[in-house]
Amino acid sequence: MLLATASVLAGCGWDGPMSTLVARSDMARDVLALYGLITWISIGIGTLVFAVLGYVLVRFRDRPGAPLPPQSHGHPWLEIAWTIGPAIVLLVIAVPTIQVVFRTQSQAKPPDALEVVVRGYQWWWEFAYPTLGVVTANELHVPAGRKIVFHLEGPDVIHSFWVPKLGGKRDVVPARANRMTLIPDTPGLYWGQCAEFCGASHANMGLRVVVDTAADFDRWVAAQRAPAADPTAEPATTGKAIFAGSACVGCHTVRGVSGGTLGPDLTHFGTRTTLAAGILPNTPDNVMAWIRDAPRLKPGAKMPPFAFTDDQARALTAYLASLK
Ligand code: CUA
Repeated sequence: MLLATASVLAGCGWDGPMSTLVARSDMARDVLALYGLITWISIGIGTLVFAVLGYVLVRFRDRPGAPLPPQSHGHPWLEIAWTIGPAIVLLVIAVPTIQVVFRTQSQAKPPDALEVVVRGYQWWWEFAYPTLGVVTANELHVPAGRKIVFHLEGPDVIHSFWVPKLGGKRDVVPARANRMTLIPDTPGLYWGQCAEFCGASHANMGLRVVVDTAADFDRWVAAQRAPAADPTAEPATTGKAIFAGSACVGCHTVRGVSGGTLGPDLTHFGTRTTLAAGILPNTPDNVMAWIRDAPRLKPGAKMPPFAFTDDQARALTAYLASLK
């Protein structure tokens, strides 16, 4: 029992990577304030209802020999009161909620904001910075203290962009321009997750957000704008030749080498800490397993299995790791 309680409490940890109770942006704070408001209102109503229920149960319970209570039908004032009461409660919840929705979906191009186009694919994320000329996947970098405008787009089905400590959930709907605006305030690594069922690997559609200091962010942008590093040693050089001569190029972009757009841009794959939309650490073993049989690791993954030999898979893995 003690163990069960402890594990439940651990699961609901105050500061787990997906905690909604820790706010690290203005949007997350606004949402947390709404959550608090609704919780306190609910606690108040619950307490009132159970107090009245308890009183009625005791005060009006049947006693031996008691006469039949007065029989009545309807009570207009009571009925008006319990219609208006809940309406007021809903109004108190709705007004600040709608304010937050509008505040976090401000105009398309607020001055000084950083624009990020978020595209949800089955089952990974693309992040494009139209004003910076940077495209990356699954790991989003943003600077702390600056307003970020996310333009949420999707080419296939409905996804939902959610980074609990920063903001969301906001739907990524094909052919609809949704926006989300927030200012992250604390540098650090944040976990996110697709929050709208989108098919077989919905649960495997994670993401990471790195909130950088302004200087770190500028360094990251400069590195991402640079062309892909050319491998200088074996087996990475062989890996590049295999990549360039295989089906990889049909789906993946490595700027200067290939231009496929169906899968994640791999130009700086070696700088990412995870692969497969945040579900695996970016280690040589995981990359090799992924190259050979992606659908085994992520059911439904659009990347088919490839029959590479051990040497070929190792060379490709070395090449991908060299793309810093
Ligand atoms: Cu994408 Cu669920």
